[in-house]
Amino acid sequence: MKSQVLFSGIKPSGSLHIGNYLGAIKQFLKFQENHDAFFCIVDLHAITVPQEPEDLRKKTLEVAKIYLAAGLDPQKSTIFIQSHVPAHAELGWILNTLTPMGELQRMTQYKDAVAKAKPALAGLFNYPTLMAADILLYRTNKVPVGNDQLQHIELARSIAERFNNKYGEVFVIPEPILQKEGSRIMSIAHPDQKMSKSEDDPRGTIGILDSPAEIREKIKSAVTDSAKNFDFDPKGPVPNLINIYAGAADIAASEVEIQFKGKTYAEFKDSLAEVTIKALEPLQDRYRKLDDRDVLKILHNGKEQAPLVANKTLAEVKEKMGFLTP
Ligand code: TYM
Repeated sequence: MKSQVLFSGIKPSGSLHIGNYLGAIKQFLKFQENHDAFFCIVDLHAITVPQEPEDLRKKTLEVAKIYLAAGLDPQKSTIFIQSHVPAHAELGWILNTLTPMGELQRMTQYKDAVAKAKPALAGLFNYPTLMAADILLYRTNKVPVGNDQLQHIELARSIAERFNNKYGEVFVIPEPILQKEGSRIMSIAHPDQKMSKSEDDPRGTIGILDSPAEIREKIKSAVTDSAKNFDFDPKGPVPNLINIYAGAADIAASEVEIQFKGKTYAEFKDSLAEVTIKALEPLQDRYRKLDDRDVLKILHNGKEQAPLVANKTLAEVKEKMGFLTP
């Protein structure tokens, strides 16, 4: 067992985009080497907004394939599907009983989702307690995520502390980890909105599996400042494009700024499209070569491995809380 545990998850609720890649997946790769890592496909979270059954199945497999194509190694990490490990739903329920409604009502993602979701389902409200269960079941030390998940992790920390204080130490208090430049990628068509799987305008989102032609097209129409040259408002849409560039090329945003000083936005965008395509190309090549049957075998192995840790934590929780055991 390595000393530090890492857990993260992605919802199979739409097509993954470069925000998911730069904010989350790129970090997963960095940490799998020296952590006990668990990478989950959180299908129970996906159904907090209505999903078509066929789409859910397809997208669940797609996320697993993207994990593998990106370079997650099933020899080093446990890759699994949330609904394959019933302990997640069970601990999620238990944590609901330790979480005041007011704390859930304050969650920004819930408020945003309610504004969009018709109907807003009870599962959406209880989303963060299930997420806390995901993290706490593995006694996770570190959770690599994008900036939008910070509030949820903060909540998981308070729930864990509350439980430990009331019933005795079971949970580890998890820490979020963020990428410097990629932790909040905005839509490239509507820069005031976060790039999101559910974005209505497809021009705003660069998909991880988009073709080079699609990527060039979308970046060409990306919103910039009105000047022709690379002379940008720090509060405008250009810093977001710089962050995408920095993440894709693996350099600091300040280097990108220096590199394009005095150049036109057209030149910058051409270059941005090429670095983005180049960053995604190896992943896309590997994705195309993956055989679904091999991926299912890996997920099956995850279904056997993850409960070895999760069930142990759950049993301790239930024992401390006074559930009668045979
Ligand atoms: P999800 O599926 O919305 O997003 C997956 C990961 O991608 C990050 N992300 C972004 N990063 C930068 N810029 C963006 N525009 C952007 N959009 C998304 C997210 O922060 C996330 O890290 N609730 C989680 C899934 C989850 C989870 C967990 C994560 C469930 N249980 C336990 C960590 C630990 C979610 O909706 O992610």
